[in-house]
Amino acid sequence: MTAHTKPPIPQAQIPNDLDAYWMPFTPNKRFKAEPRFVDRAEGMYYFTPDGRKLLDGASGLWCVSAGHCHPRIVEAIQRQAGELGYATNFNMGHPKAFEFASRLASLLPGDIDHVFFTNSGSESADTALKIALAYHRARGNSSKTRLIGREKGYHGVGFGGISVGGIVSNRKQFGTLLAGVDHLPHTHDLARNAFSRGQPEHGAELADALEGLVALHDASTIAAVIVEPVAGSAGVLPPPKGYLERLRAICDKHDILLIFDEVITGFGRLGASFAGEKFGVLPDIMGMAKGLTNASVPMGAVGVRGHVYDTLMGDEDLGVELFHGYTYSGHPLACAAGLATLDVYRDEGLFERSAELSPLFEDLIHSLKDARHVIDVRNMGLMAGVEMASRPGAPGARGQEVFKRMYDLGVLGRVTGDTIAFSPAFIAQPAQLETMVAAARQAMSEVD
Ligand SMILES: Cc1ncc(COP(=O)(O)O)c(C=O)c1O
Repeated sequence: MTAHTKPPIPQAQIPNDLDAYWMPFTPNKRFKAEPRFVDRAEGMYYFTPDGRKLLDGASGLWCVSAGHCHPRIVEAIQRQAGELGYATNFNMGHPKAFEFASRLASLLPGDIDHVFFTNSGSESADTALKIALAYHRARGNSSKTRLIGREKGYHGVGFGGISVGGIVSNRKQFGTLLAGVDHLPHTHDLARNAFSRGQPEHGAELADALEGLVALHDASTIAAVIVEPVAGSAGVLPPPKGYLERLRAICDKHDILLIFDEVITGFGRLGASFAGEKFGVLPDIMGMAKGLTNASVPMGAVGVRGHVYDTLMGDEDLGVELFHGYTYSGHPLACAAGLATLDVYRDEGLFERSAELSPLFEDLIHSLKDARHVIDVRNMGLMAGVEMASRPGAPGARGQEVFKRMYDLGVLGRVTGDTIAFSPAFIAQPAQLETMVAAARQAMSEVD
């Protein structure tokens, strides 16, 4: 593995004006009263302006899988910025976008051989949904317009993503959302599956709810089903054994496209290159972001199978085949970062390392079973959620306090509700995994 060493950078000061910046997904007033800053990162660590070192147990937001500021990725971005900082891909092209698409396509499962570039996971979700609608229309099935998501699902924050998403707080402020959307039930089942290691035993039958939605709406109106193979933001919910296979079979039966949102699960997070490969279930369309560039430059991508691409390309010259794209689709800096990231994954064997670390990570994380407040531990590859009982009348409060206590102890986790999630970079050392788990145990013991 590459040693992440570079000269120290002078410490930035905490800015005087905290008011102008409206922070995302953050209680702004609370944060600004008690700010937490980092101004440098390297490998497994963030550094704070006052010189503290924070072990990053969340690899940023499940995204810096090769560790922070990887020198090869940094160098590729710097070089690209001086060569070609921007070029559009509308009616023009630059080589790195094509090169990166081919490299990526060769890594994607099955015949997912074509790639559309976006700039984020949210854009990937919306793009995937739009491609599904356009696909059915191109085949003359223009009544197939319904989109099916899942309760507790997270597909980013665009209108498409929150419509098919199933996290109520992300939806309730924003009106009626997209019309013609329905949801499958979630698979979170503490009564039957608490403390499962990897895929839970119970719940494959929850996929049959799709048959129920077909009975309600008719297959002739349903375009696509979108799920996260392992739900991340809802607190790490691996799919019950047989669930994804069943969903695939029902989609095939009714000519419904299956979309996997692999924004978190892609690029080695599950100890395999992608969830599609890990579970042996091939979606028609898959969304990616995060690990795509090791989060060094914002980028997302949507991969599609041959039949989807060929349908939309048509047999004749159609002019513009898909009226969709972004100013920054295939941005040169992102492509350079993505190419360097794929090199790093390959040369450092990081997907394999993720698989190698997974059993140890599983044992360590499940050792929290008897920690204070804990009611469930879930894991798959290098992602895990440790769920605590909610404080009566104050869901999420305990999670926030444990997260803050862990931060004071020098470890960053991720909090969603009362679940503390971990998703370390694949370069983590066993002792660092132990430190994360020990900090969680201590914080849980100290918070009521
Ligand atoms: C499964 C999934 N889809 C989409 C997104 C949205 O990605 P972004 O925040 O890059 O828009 C996320 C972000 O966490 C995600 O986990």
